[in-house]
Amino acid sequence: MSVRKAAVLIGLGLVASAVGIALGLAIDWFPDQASTQAGPIDTLYDVLVIASVPIFVLVTGVVVYCVREFRETPETAGTDGPPIHGSTKLEVIWTVLPTILIAGLCAYAYVVLRDIEEEPAAASADQREIRVGVTGEQFAWTYTYPKEVTGDKALTTTRLVLPLGRSVDFRIRAKDVLHDFWVPEFRMKMDAVPGIETSYRVTPTRAGTFPVVCAELCGLGHSTMRSEVRVVSPERFAAFLREEAAPAVEQGASPTEQASAGKEIFTAQGCGGCHALADAGSSGGVGPDLDEVLEGQSVAQVTESIVEPDAKVEQGFARGVMPGSYGDQLSEQEIEALVTYLRRTAGS
Ligand code: CUA
Repeated sequence: MSVRKAAVLIGLGLVASAVGIALGLAIDWFPDQASTQAGPIDTLYDVLVIASVPIFVLVTGVVVYCVREFRETPETAGTDGPPIHGSTKLEVIWTVLPTILIAGLCAYAYVVLRDIEEEPAAASADQREIRVGVTGEQFAWTYTYPKEVTGDKALTTTRLVLPLGRSVDFRIRAKDVLHDFWVPEFRMKMDAVPGIETSYRVTPTRAGTFPVVCAELCGLGHSTMRSEVRVVSPERFAAFLREEAAPAVEQGASPTEQASAGKEIFTAQGCGGCHALADAGSSGGVGPDLDEVLEGQSVAQVTESIVEPDAKVEQGFARGVMPGSYGDQLSEQEIEALVTYLRRTAGS
């Protein structure tokens, strides 16, 4: 190859790398950053883009060059190329260089990971890290606030609310199969594994509502296994804990009071994510349309459908999609309220 040709090829490679890197950095790949962990992770990603694009260009360039230059011609058709021994020097170079590069990137990634996994120092006692239990099951998330956080007894709920600017230590479990607890805006992601507890910590830096996504294929309802996290001020967080601790419905409530509490439970539990119900303004299509199927059903039948969803499954719907844990999560009064609400509204 002439020097001139080599210079042109190297020039082309440099231009292609520059364009590739510029594109890779310009494209907004990720959602908003909403935790202190997000910044270093996005920087790590950018560094990986910068390191990988020139290598991609080099490898693709060599392949395209070889296909063009050394393709079979009528003269060489059907013959083998000359037997050659490779270049030891070249082999040493192309082994050592990638080794150094990979080792460097691994070391950098390790430092970043160690850094973001460390518990941040709390400025004061009410800034101390809180621990929140996360439980995945087919196909819903539940969250547990221990008594150190609530100041009273532990609280289990389907709503995830976090105080802004305070480190959270998620302790993640699975009841049945593998799930994966992921909040894209926080950037952190961890498998929920049956039988063991996994964990990660984040410090939310942005108030707002962000999606919680199950990132591990876990069965038929995997794509519906979504929830959300609300990041709020410390005052709103304290109010949330008080609200959750208060019973949704008192014993001996009138049917009208029950129905209104039932509607709140329907919304809070995210039932509308899977079920259509006109009164609640929901249109989920994963489970049966409640306006249709509940007509003429008795209290016992509706209760069974909530507490033991697999006992009788509507035609055209699969067993095992609706979590069977509502009987444990909701109190008897809450279930009664929900049933009252559903029977009053659906199909009426
Ligand atoms: Cu749980 Cu996918």
